[in-house]
Amino acid sequence: MGTKLIIDTDPGVDDAFAIALAALSTDVDLLGVTTVFGNVPLAATTINARRLLQLCDRPDVPVAAGASRPLVYPNPYSAEYVHGVDGLSGRSEALPEPARPLDERDAVSLLYSLLKAADEPVTIAPIGPLTNIALLLAAHPGVREKIGRIVIMGGALDHGNMTAAAEFNIWSDPEAARRVLVEEDVPVVLVPMDLTYRCAVDTAWLAELAASGPLGTMLESLTPDYLAHYRKALGWEGIVLHDAVAVAEAIRPGLLRTESFPIDVDCGLGPARGATLVDRRRRREPGTQPVRTIEIAVDTDVDALGKFVLARLSGGQ
Ligand code: BDR
Ligand code: CA
Repeated sequence: MGTKLIIDTDPGVDDAFAIALAALSTDVDLLGVTTVFGNVPLAATTINARRLLQLCDRPDVPVAAGASRPLVYPNPYSAEYVHGVDGLSGRSEALPEPARPLDERDAVSLLYSLLKAADEPVTIAPIGPLTNIALLLAAHPGVREKIGRIVIMGGALDHGNMTAAAEFNIWSDPEAARRVLVEEDVPVVLVPMDLTYRCAVDTAWLAELAASGPLGTMLESLTPDYLAHYRKALGWEGIVLHDAVAVAEAIRPGLLRTESFPIDVDCGLGPARGATLVDRRRRREPGTQPVRTIEIAVDTDVDALGKFVLARLSGGQ
């Protein structure tokens, strides 16, 4: 029945597009959605995720709530200034109320149960802070063998968006990110903001989505605050679909071109906290030990990617 997928998310407008992309794709077996603090507090990300699945007519997909804060240091900053007061441009309550109750399990327990029961490799797409995923791998190391790939939206090679050095998801919980990206032994694809920015879509793309039908109209209606932010960040009328770019790769492996690099995460308390240090040197010091590498998405056919996401969100396959 296609790619088995679990999304870990903090909706968030681009998360909303990413969830809808997976939920509407008939070649994806969406096993579950877990939520984490991030763009807005956990209670808001959780109700947003549940309402979005209802919008996509997917009450079959369980949703479990996870971490409400980072692993080590509290983090008072969220991203209402990007996504609006409720994470969805103030439009969350316009979405349909979820028919399915919130799962009684916490996010790590749901992830563990779904992975344990899986009879083929599962892709996990974390598109928020990596707290739940670090906790899962720490508490249940045996599930590594059930994970096909972890396709993560996060990190920045050039400059950050939360600080000069750090991208929001990694900056929100650097210790968790370091556990997943540096210390674990699972296949990881990292989709950094350098590439997601290049995949920004314009208002003609949004208008086409809105014209595709009631679901497209509702998705487009979640974007005004997000568009207001990205109008300034991009310097033109458009939005960055960060998380949907990562989920596109999760459901269609190879859509993004990746290269293998060693990585580290700055967990210091200085100005570079949360930076991803990607070692792009082609030649390393002789005699140094080989280190773990992860796949980092560096390029794609930007036009084709935009068309792929638009077609899926508009009901095509
Ligand atoms: C990431 O941060 C959040 O604001 C978005 O949802 C995305 O996951 C982009 O840096
Ligand atoms: Ca997100």
